[in-house]
Amino acid sequence: MSLETVLETAWGLLQEGVTDRKKPFHTPAIASISADFKPSIRTVVLRCIDQSKKTVRFHTDIRARKYAELTANPYLALHFYDETKKVQIRLETTACLHNRDEVAAEAWSLSQPMSKVCYATPISPGAGVLMPPAALSLEGANMEIGYGNFGVVEGAINYLEWLQLSAKGHRRAGFRWAADGTLFCEWLGP
Ligand SMILES: Cc1cc2nc3c(=O)[nH]c(=O)nc-3n(C[C@H](O)[C@H](O)[C@H](O)COP(=O)(O)O)c2cc1C
Repeated sequence: MSLETVLETAWGLLQEGVTDRKKPFHTPAIASISADFKPSIRTVVLRCIDQSKKTVRFHTDIRARKYAELTANPYLALHFYDETKKVQIRLETTACLHNRDEVAAEAWSLSQPMSKVCYATPISPGAGVLMPPAALSLEGANMEIGYGNFGVVEGAINYLEWLQLSAKGHRRAGFRWAADGTLFCEWLGP
């Protein structure tokens, strides 16, 4: 497999992660950096991959810790692993945050009501509560407030790394895009 084919395969798997909820790439782990420089990691749903713009997107509540961390420090890493294909992809990106703008408005309009209702709760993600809250319900949910809490995180991909585990020999490759879009790619020791 050539480096070119590896990259095309990687884009294909990432795209499949957006469209197929059953694929492991649908729920990557994403890492940000806390104010005291500690790594901070959690699962999200992969919402969009744009191969030509080299961007990746997920949705989040702007009251969440990750949103504050990315506001202070936009370096955002994503990790994907497909156990059946034995493929790991790591992305290094620079995040651009969207709230109450055109990007957020479009993503909000395409979201399902049951997804929207999560953003309408008065309990901020990660806030301490006396007991676990009742299940969210569409009834009485204030979607205007929900929209205000809705954020889209778009990562501009600077680096993509591919690792394919195989009994015939592991394969690892790195793809880095310079600021002007020039691509540098190389095989790496696995
Ligand atoms: C399968 C799965 C999918 C998730 N999808 C999202 C998501 O798309 N956006 C999000 O903000 N949190 C999502 N979460 C919850 C996060 O993992 C995390 O618990 C939450 O966002 C709070 O993270 P933070 O306090 O570090 O910001 C998901 C969790 C799981 C297990």
